[in-house]
Amino acid sequence: MRPGAPSLKEPDSVPWTSNAPFWSNTAIVLCYFLDTHRDTYNLLDKNVIELGAGTGLVSVVTSLLGAKVTSTDLPEVLSNLQYNVLRNTRGQCRHPPQVTELSWGKELEQHFPQATCHYDYVFAADVVYCHPYLGELLDTFDHLCQDGTEILWAMRFRLDRENQFVERFRTRFHLEELYDLPSLSIKLYRASRKEMERKTQSGEAV
Ligand SMILES: C[S@@+](CC[C@H](N)C(=O)[O-])C[C@H]1O[C@@H](n2cnc3c(N)ncnc32)[C@H](O)[C@@H]1O
Repeated sequence: MRPGAPSLKEPDSVPWTSNAPFWSNTAIVLCYFLDTHRDTYNLLDKNVIELGAGTGLVSVVTSLLGAKVTSTDLPEVLSNLQYNVLRNTRGQCRHPPQVTELSWGKELEQHFPQATCHYDYVFAADVVYCHPYLGELLDTFDHLCQDGTEILWAMRFRLDRENQFVERFRTRFHLEELYDLPSLSIKLYRASRKEMERKTQSGEAV
């Protein structure tokens, strides 16, 4: 963050691996981009949802930049996420961030109905790795994106199988590379959904 910006308090624990650093490089890359592109990405009063927020750095920074943030993750990490997000944003944000469960691919329409949930941005950092929910993750991006929604996705490259996700992603989204940081094996992408098939009320494509 720039001089004068609030200092961040490190999380007390990292739920998915005890060896992980407090704030992941992937999240830092996305935050750096947001902080240094405030003119192009003016987040003031924008609706933002973060997927797989983890310890919450991206949600914290996005909230400090003035957005209305919904920070999401699996139920088992929510209390830690809530703690970190509150600790770093309380009394400093125009819109207090909301922390809530979003398990990829599960009950999306029930909890995030497309008629009422319109997001300007979907943010995600380091959500593609060795887990069995890549299809569900893709469906989740798809569900949350409507006309005008932009995705900013920081991807840390590890194994081939996960890397192939980028090509799967490209079948449904326009993808543009914003950063390529080979020394960190991280790329930052901007994406938007390809022309949406119109659907009838019953869900049939027309
Ligand atoms: C490697 S961590 C990245 C966390 C954070 N975005 C960062 O960069 O520091 C991956 C995150 O995805 C979440 N995650 C994994 N599988 C998930 C699923 N099926 N539904 C929702 N979140 C999931 C994990 O709980 C974890 O917080």
